[in-house]
Amino acid sequence: MKRDKKILIILLSIFCILAVVGTTLHFTKDFFFPEKEVETPKTESQILEEKGIILVNKESFVQEANSLLEKGYTADEINNIYEYMSEKNIQSILANEYVDLSQFYQISNFDFSKIDRYKAYQALESIEMKDAVTRVNLNLDEPFYQTIETIEDPSAVTVLVNKSHALSSDYVPDDLVAIPSFPSLQIKDDAVNDFENLLAAAKLDNVYIIPYSTYRSYDYQNRLYNGYLQDDPVEVVDTYSARPGHSEHQTGLALDVRSSTHWSNLTDADYEWMLNNSYKYGFIVRYPKDNSTITGYKEEPWHLRYIGIEHATKVHELGITYDEYYDLYLTEH
Ligand code: DAL
Ligand code: ZN
Repeated sequence: MKRDKKILIILLSIFCILAVVGTTLHFTKDFFFPEKEVETPKTESQILEEKGIILVNKESFVQEANSLLEKGYTADEINNIYEYMSEKNIQSILANEYVDLSQFYQISNFDFSKIDRYKAYQALESIEMKDAVTRVNLNLDEPFYQTIETIEDPSAVTVLVNKSHALSSDYVPDDLVAIPSFPSLQIKDDAVNDFENLLAAAKLDNVYIIPYSTYRSYDYQNRLYNGYLQDDPVEVVDTYSARPGHSEHQTGLALDVRSSTHWSNLTDADYEWMLNNSYKYGFIVRYPKDNSTITGYKEEPWHLRYIGIEHATKVHELGITYDEYYDLYLTEH
């Protein structure tokens, strides 16, 4: 027993000595041979961050940010560009020299390729830049009918048809149907139920509406427009009749309506009802008062356009024309 104790003490002593020697050697080595601090080089992202640039999760970001710095954009400007600009605009910005974009970050429908037109139009008209952007996007800085795009998806319920967006001469909707309560008139299938609902709701409020011109073919619109030219000069006709290819009636989504007591228009009370209620059934009064510089037409109380309840409600709430709405909310920039 005594012997065992001795062995234990010896073993413990050896352990302690080894521990002390080991520790001493370790510190001595660190003293005489300190480990060199390895300096790791900064990454390009870290360098950008140190300049105040917020990193964006995009493969080409470092290269793009450096290119913008070289062009003279500040860190704040670069942060704004990536926060507010579309990818298409970013690529245009990268392809051009430095431009002061401070007026445009908050404008969602800004299109870099039109920046000079925006500035010129804003200066000419003394309007807010956001309005200049929308109007130039709608080509309103040019005479009507100067720039004309052919509509790619003419059968969409949201299709924009105006003086710069044309339907091809052979476009005929493939889903025209007769309006059940006015079977001699046709509109696009999408709009029929909501139109019947509108008529029924109006009736409940003692508003009696009759549609009288609905779908019109390209050829019919052509004859109509040329007929008007027999009576009025072109600049007058253009304020009340669309040129062929430019009429919403060719889409089957437009209807001219009248009060049962009038031959071609709505009474003031019926018009008031229409302005306040048609959106609930997906219709808007397409050419409202005081908007001819945007729509290109004088006020037409009778001309309804179906765009669906969701969009009609938004157009009604915003109190803007469908042209503006289309550019602001239904167009990618
Ligand atoms: N009166 C409208 C503008 C049309 O002709 O379509
Ligand atoms: Zn019409």
